[in-house]
Amino acid sequence: MASESPQDTFARRADELREYVFSQPASKFENNPWALAAAIETFANEKGHMMIFRDSKLAVAKEALLAQQPAPRTILEFGTFVGKSALAWGAILRDIHGENIPEDVNVYTFDPDSKMVALTRDFVKLAGMENTIHVLEGFGSDSLNKLVAEGKVTSVDMAFYDHWEKYYLSDLQLLEEKKLWRVGSLAIADNTDMPGAPDYLAYVKAGGSGAAGAVKYESKSYETQGGKGPSVVEISVVLETN
Ligand SMILES: C[S@@+](CC[C@H](N)C(=O)[O-])C[C@H]1O[C@@H](n2cnc3c(N)ncnc32)[C@H](O)[C@@H]1O
Repeated sequence: MASESPQDTFARRADELREYVFSQPASKFENNPWALAAAIETFANEKGHMMIFRDSKLAVAKEALLAQQPAPRTILEFGTFVGKSALAWGAILRDIHGENIPEDVNVYTFDPDSKMVALTRDFVKLAGMENTIHVLEGFGSDSLNKLVAEGKVTSVDMAFYDHWEKYYLSDLQLLEEKKLWRVGSLAIADNTDMPGAPDYLAYVKAGGSGAAGAVKYESKSYETQGGKGPSVVEISVVLETN
């Protein structure tokens, strides 16, 4: 019998996760994005391999966001998958800004996989976060170009890179090109060590392109434990904008 492709495994897991969440009382998750993010983590722990942003890594990112000044209002996420991290970003923004989250406080999460987009939209609705977490179907670069053209995104406090590693660097540079960074913005990237994003890592570690007037970054690797063992989260702070 032919073995299942990774794509088919992800799709099957997404169906199982939907069943796992929606077979529980809705009251457990209503208005509670943290509870839903925790349920996704529990499901992943039980099922084994699932490419979610684990709590051990999330803790590092959360600390950076809570310390950010001024407080974050606009978060971009490249790679939605099942919405674990998108729900967590929304929950962090709610912790910071209160239950009545202001209209200009938003998470935009991007994924070309329509199945994952549909699942995450249902999760976002269940958690009562649909006014804050926007799930956009398509490549992150296309969706971001559109948001900028529409005037919906003019400045970014944090961009999270958790999609396919070959896109990390160009999607970081897109924010430079669109002049979306501010001093103190954060670029947070998962899996820079494994499977690895060497061009991205070299770029942020060097502080950016080094060209006159270019964006400058200060970057640090955080080793965390979780899921399949040690893994690195790269957090880069914007020191100067272009
Ligand atoms: C590692 S998963 C994301 C995990 C997610 N952040 C979470 O914690 O649940 C990677 C996702 O990136 C998506 N992806 C691949 N290329 C992309 C692109 N160019 N823009 C946005 N998403 C992309 C894939 O479809 C996949 O669902």
